[in-house]
Amino acid sequence: MALSLAAVIGALAGAAIGAVVMARSARQCRKPSDRAGRAVLQRMNVSHAELTAWGLSHVAIRDDFTMLDVGCGGGRTIDRLASIATKGKVFGVDYSEDSVATARETNARWIEQGRVDIQLGTVSRLPFPDGTFDLVTAVETHYYWPDLPRDVREVFRVLQPSGTFAIIAEAYRGRRNDWLFRPTMTLILRAAYLTPDEHRHLLVDAGFVDVQIFEEKAKGWICASGRRA
Ligand SMILES: C[S@@+](CC[C@H](N)C(=O)[O-])C[C@H]1O[C@@H](n2cnc3c(N)ncnc32)[C@H](O)[C@@H]1O
Repeated sequence: MALSLAAVIGALAGAAIGAVVMARSARQCRKPSDRAGRAVLQRMNVSHAELTAWGLSHVAIRDDFTMLDVGCGGGRTIDRLASIATKGKVFGVDYSEDSVATARETNARWIEQGRVDIQLGTVSRLPFPDGTFDLVTAVETHYYWPDLPRDVREVFRVLQPSGTFAIIAEAYRGRRNDWLFRPTMTLILRAAYLTPDEHRHLLVDAGFVDVQIFEEKAKGWICASGRRA
């Protein structure tokens, strides 16, 4: 009896520690900070690479495009976009100072060549004039935006007519293993956890046309794209 009580207490303590570790690491995804945040950013540069490549495969990118990656994190998507658009320019914005610093390190050679520019800023007030970009990407970030419908309209504002917005993400309601993602997204992170249809409405309500939703169901990935008319 004493042994089994110890086992129960041990299991409870283990679960509590696990929950704290998970909550901490989840918070670092929302706004990376300090050394722990830098480590998370390096990991995301690797772990989001395949998802990002898949998402971008649904978007047409010309070699002279001017592009923005919002919530750029460690900057791997910016690097990828700069490699594709060899005559273009890529901007990045993130509201975490550690994300901006890491993204600048990741893209040091492009920045030196004047092909990439990364700024501290929030999606809610993008530091660019109306109609600046051919493409805006948001990889694994829209869940955390403070006022999602309004923030998507802010993205719309900085797009050129015919410009494209692509949301690329691996957490959405109804995905594979939804039961595992839902509590983390809704209870721990209090993040937007939308269905594919809610993604469609989000873009349509902001004024986007040609809205398309792609799902990679085996992986649990989604890409929602729309064009500014
Ligand atoms: C989970 S990370 C993803 C980073 C990167 N896009 C990637 O795929 O690896 C989310 C990023 O979005 C940024 N972010 C969250 N809310 C933001 C906001 N309101 N404005 C700008 N950046 C934001 C965070 O600071 C963080 O760097």
